[in-house]
Amino acid sequence: MKREDIDKVLAELNELKCKTLKDVEEARVRFLGKKGEITALFDEFRTVDKDLKKEFGRTLNELKQKAQETIDQLKGALEDSASQAAPKTDLSMPGDSLPLGSRHPVSIVRQEIVEIFRKFGYDVAEGPEIEDDYHVFEALNFPPNHPARDMQDTFFVSAGHLNPLLLRTHTSSVQVRTMENSKVPIRVVCPGRVFRNEAISARAHCIFHQLEGLYIDEDVTFADLKQAILLFAREMFGPQTEIRMRPSYFPFTEPSAEVDVSCNICHGKGCNICKGTGWLEIMGCGMVDPNVLEASGIDSKKYSGFAFGMGLERIAMLKWRVNDLRHYFENDLRFLEEFNSSIEV
Ligand code: DAH
Repeated sequence: MKREDIDKVLAELNELKCKTLKDVEEARVRFLGKKGEITALFDEFRTVDKDLKKEFGRTLNELKQKAQETIDQLKGALEDSASQAAPKTDLSMPGDSLPLGSRHPVSIVRQEIVEIFRKFGYDVAEGPEIEDDYHVFEALNFPPNHPARDMQDTFFVSAGHLNPLLLRTHTSSVQVRTMENSKVPIRVVCPGRVFRNEAISARAHCIFHQLEGLYIDEDVTFADLKQAILLFAREMFGPQTEIRMRPSYFPFTEPSAEVDVSCNICHGKGCNICKGTGWLEIMGCGMVDPNVLEASGIDSKKYSGFAFGMGLERIAMLKWRVNDLRHYFENDLRFLEEFNSSIEV
């Protein structure tokens, strides 16, 4: 090994110019790679005379260090200019919009119904979901042990004493609380969640939602009830909608009726939604039983009233042709996103 060999490599290093990062990498291989020039000098170093080893060793190490520094510097400079040349972030670009959630179909229907009744002058009232036997049954003219209690399978929270706590089986309990706490005339709708001890299937669920209506004043008649329901049905299902009432039984109304609306899918011709009848059942209703008025301190000789109650899942099912109640509770985004277009801001 000669001194000139080292100087030659040093001179080459000093002259080194690279235009691209690829050039830098090639230079690194050329000087420092396994078969590189400096590596070759280190190989030769083994053959150097003993008394020269110290000096050559130092110079070689300095050369290697210099090569590494030169390559690092060239690389750093190229990387800096590359990042400066890259397009800058455009701060005026609109951001990525976050996906907007949608309202639940039951909430959409509830709001729609509440808005309709608000236009008719009704207020909204709410009551507790954990209720007592008195407000769910007793005050609504279900005496203890009356068979009508079996119409609604009840979840009891505490059993065994006179007025046990339970999960309300219908929103009619809110009628009672409203009558207890307000003065006649009364016009309210009471939306809310209700609970029944039912096996879960496509057609039944242990949790669902109802909306109750109550109207009490002097001289309220069945004709008023019929007209209120007809107006509601036309607002909700379209102006051509017809209603029919079938006699029914509820302990808290007399007379009682079940209301059907004309099928808005086949317009009365008969289809599989209305099971060929041309009619869809939407609610129960009736004239408030005088016993119910009296139980809440309202003079049944002076005042009369009507009440109605409907299932919100059922109305939503008719509106959007949902065929399985379980969809409402599973929070499957594929189902919920179907209602995106119904967002009202
Ligand atoms: N509470 C009844 C039910 O859950 C529904 C109902 C029927 C409510 C007739 C009423 C009514 O206010 O008048 O099945």
